[in-house]
Amino acid sequence: MCGIMGVVGADDAVRVLVDGLQHLSYRGYDAAGVAVMAGRDGQRRIEIRKTAGTLDKLKSLLSGQPVNGRIGIGHTRWATHGAPTDCNAHPHTDKSGKLAVVHNGIIENERVLRQKLAAEGFEFRSQTDTEVVAHLVSKYLGETCDLHCALRKTLDVISGAYALVVMYIDEPDRIYAARKDSPLVIGLGQGAGYVASDIPALLPHTREMLLLEDGDVARVTGDEVIVWDRNDNITVRQSKTIMWDQEAADKGEHTTFMDKEMDEQADAAARLLAAPLMRHEAPSRVVFVGCGSAYHASMVGRELLGRLAGIPSDVMIASEMRYEPELSLEGTLCLAVSQSGETADTLAALRQAKRRGASAAAIVNAQDSSIAREAEAVQWMHAGPEIAVATTKGYTTQLLALLRLSLEWGRANGRLSASDAREWEGELGKLPELMRGALADRERAERFATAHIAPRLVFFIGRGLDYATALEGALKFKEISYLNAEAYAAGELKHGPIALIESDALVVAVCTQSRLTAKTVSNIREVKARGARVLALCRESDEAGLRAEADEVWTLPDAPDEVMPLLAILPLQRLAYETAILRGCSVDKPRNLAKSVTVE
Ligand code: G6P
Repeated sequence: MCGIMGVVGADDAVRVLVDGLQHLSYRGYDAAGVAVMAGRDGQRRIEIRKTAGTLDKLKSLLSGQPVNGRIGIGHTRWATHGAPTDCNAHPHTDKSGKLAVVHNGIIENERVLRQKLAAEGFEFRSQTDTEVVAHLVSKYLGETCDLHCALRKTLDVISGAYALVVMYIDEPDRIYAARKDSPLVIGLGQGAGYVASDIPALLPHTREMLLLEDGDVARVTGDEVIVWDRNDNITVRQSKTIMWDQEAADKGEHTTFMDKEMDEQADAAARLLAAPLMRHEAPSRVVFVGCGSAYHASMVGRELLGRLAGIPSDVMIASEMRYEPELSLEGTLCLAVSQSGETADTLAALRQAKRRGASAAAIVNAQDSSIAREAEAVQWMHAGPEIAVATTKGYTTQLLALLRLSLEWGRANGRLSASDAREWEGELGKLPELMRGALADRERAERFATAHIAPRLVFFIGRGLDYATALEGALKFKEISYLNAEAYAAGELKHGPIALIESDALVVAVCTQSRLTAKTVSNIREVKARGARVLALCRESDEAGLRAEADEVWTLPDAPDEVMPLLAILPLQRLAYETAILRGCSVDKPRNLAKSVTVE
């Protein structure tokens, strides 16, 4: 969600900025722009090129109106305040045009500040909250001596979440960066300094990076970086060498990131199986928090924890939990589940849980992310970089991490016997191969998608763990193929949704849970009787029974019930993908969605 790139000391700042923004485009955006310090001495000026739409549009704007310089800031915008128009695109400037600002996040007191500034004579050109920052910095520059002081004063009056980068004509050798609840990374190059909202944008230039903390302000020049903490004291933020390769974040021979990431799932599972588990004693109670797919993974986690470790748990949608007033979590472990580690709601929910007396742990993929830093213990997902907005390997590694933790805690608290634990080790060892088997049938998904290119509605149904899979399957369909897809606990159909079933409905029935398959079969009969076409997903051993009920049956390798969510989601991801491709949708960057949701 919004991408920021800044550079000081590049031979060609525009190239560095646009290239960096390209690496951040996976976050989702609807407008893009750059500001470059052009000209020298008395002639110095800030040149801005910005446009609604894609980076390709920005590139063609730049080739028609080229601009050169060594210092600049760039941005991809995901609209929050005001439509995705040229005018609302970042960077934003003050009236004099002497300073430019890019911003990720939301300034929550924007309305009040805007009114105040307007009353003081500041004229607004855009509807963005960011323009408030530009005018505030400008106002304080009029009152104080330098950009550092003006920025500090601005940070004192704005509230909300932000990553900000500012450049100013009268301090032409530097840019300033500031963050609160929104990620910002600084890259240390040879004679050049960089700022970006995520590591992949910086990897072509440097592996030496420094992660800003909440409340930090940094001054970046070509030779040095100075960081002030929230109390404005100069502080040292240890730099890190990033070890992973850019190729891991490239498409390779795949046409889309999502295709690549789906294919990587068996390898990611093998990597996670070989990795150490987080060290944390078996909790007596857990509350899971997450959003989107991470919430669905948490639903599976609740079931696994109960069955395998006898640990009671609740699952809360992070955006709901953060405003839950009556919550007491003394003696509870809050387990935040997040691929990016930056989802604003999940981070806030984790903090809220800590305030309510919980201890905090997290299942996270992105190293050095805010949630990982906030948690007392972290279980890494080892999925490698995930770029496509719709998560695939992120989801399956979350499921596997939850399965492993449940087994470990079950072993530790005596719920699982030593021989059960050994048996489970054997089962987990087989998992990557089973996943490879369940991943294989692309052609079948393509054929099915061709035959069902535009159903009026798609229902996903299932019971128990299959209900979580149904929710995740429906989410994948909605996210990337824009089909009207909904998930229901199969037993709930008769309480309303079945009124929508006619002959143009498609029902995907997930039937992988041994205890519950017969029950879901009854629901298949109910929708068949009303004309729906049914695709059933079941284990090989249930194939014959399901063939007599559904129009089409896809089988999955036989495995314990607790493992089936890891297998059953694979064909559903592929089906959503092939449907989206056939419908001409932008699978990696679906409309209106963002990978890393850093606003509320
Ligand atoms: C966005 C993504 C989803 C993801 C959710 C939570 O909505 O599009 O795929 O499940 O955020 O992301 P997280 O990084 O916290 O797992």
